[in-house]
Amino acid sequence: MPLIRIKKSWEIPERLVTPEATYLNRRRFMKGLISAGLTGAVLPLAGCNKSDRSLADSGSSSLKSYPNLTRNPAFSQVQRAITEEDLATKYNNFYEFGGTKSIWQAAQALPTENWKVEVTGLVKNPRVYDIDDLQKKFPLEERVYRFRCVEAWSMVVPWVGFPMKLLMADVEPTNNAKFVRFISFYDPEITKGPGFWAGGYPWPYTEALRLDEMANELAFFATGMYGKELPKQNGAPLREVIPWKYGFKGAKSIVKIEFVAEQPATFWNTLAANEYGFEANVNPNVPHPRWSQATEKVVGSGASWSWERIPTLAYNGYGEYVAGLYQ
Ligand code: MTE
Repeated sequence: MPLIRIKKSWEIPERLVTPEATYLNRRRFMKGLISAGLTGAVLPLAGCNKSDRSLADSGSSSLKSYPNLTRNPAFSQVQRAITEEDLATKYNNFYEFGGTKSIWQAAQALPTENWKVEVTGLVKNPRVYDIDDLQKKFPLEERVYRFRCVEAWSMVVPWVGFPMKLLMADVEPTNNAKFVRFISFYDPEITKGPGFWAGGYPWPYTEALRLDEMANELAFFATGMYGKELPKQNGAPLREVIPWKYGFKGAKSIVKIEFVAEQPATFWNTLAANEYGFEANVNPNVPHPRWSQATEKVVGSGASWSWERIPTLAYNGYGEYVAGLYQ
């Protein structure tokens, strides 16, 4: 029983056709619904807004390139064109910095200097990695992956990073560890986020996987994209990339990784479990409660309503690697 009609991701955002005050009041109203537990009908993750992409460089030209990068031949192409870098770095979801797709400028406030990643919980070798050491310790490679958001848009991104299983081998989870939890950077003084919603969100952003999912060949930690360090808006300096799952499973700007025995609470699943399941495997046959997942819009140049629509693949096309995990 949706009280508010949520725009499809490729439609004109409400803020462009509604006076700002009306729009903001509505968002406050939505926050009220969230606190009242009526989130299922109105959650904003589907509220894709066309980004106000400008011609300005998204900050990525000043980022360090990775020398001698090798593209893993097993993941060198996906029968679709790689998304233009300028689009992938200016059409983002990063709610810590705002509730629209146009957060790339706001995200420049993320302080990435001297970044540490704590690995803790049920492991034999708990560690605190400095991000530079982490990138020296694990051999970096490039992988081209399909990327499918639960909101029914998609991209193809050349990531730089290393398989998660290498980090697992380094910290050695104990036999009691069954899940792994990823915790994103959060400082309310810096990640000012959607402001009027802040009270309703279970910050910090967290995501989690089963341990056998983490050990899968595809599960990847990205430190870069398009041959360079990750731009802040894309989750610098370390994010998860889980290509067979919807994009919200990939926590950005990770500060802590915790191995645990029980399935942990996660950000979107806490807000609306019926819309954002824990498993969240890409599946064209299971519609989201408010829209079909059978097809997806390919993020491209021009207006979002003109983007090409293509069929969505089971496991986002990665069934040969992961279907066995779910039998
Ligand atoms: N991680 C954090 N910390 N905060 C977020 O809001 N959004 C998720 C995911 N990781 C999100 C996050 C969602 S919904 C998607 S689709 C992807 O990041 C978007 O990644 P991109 O901006 O690099 O395309």
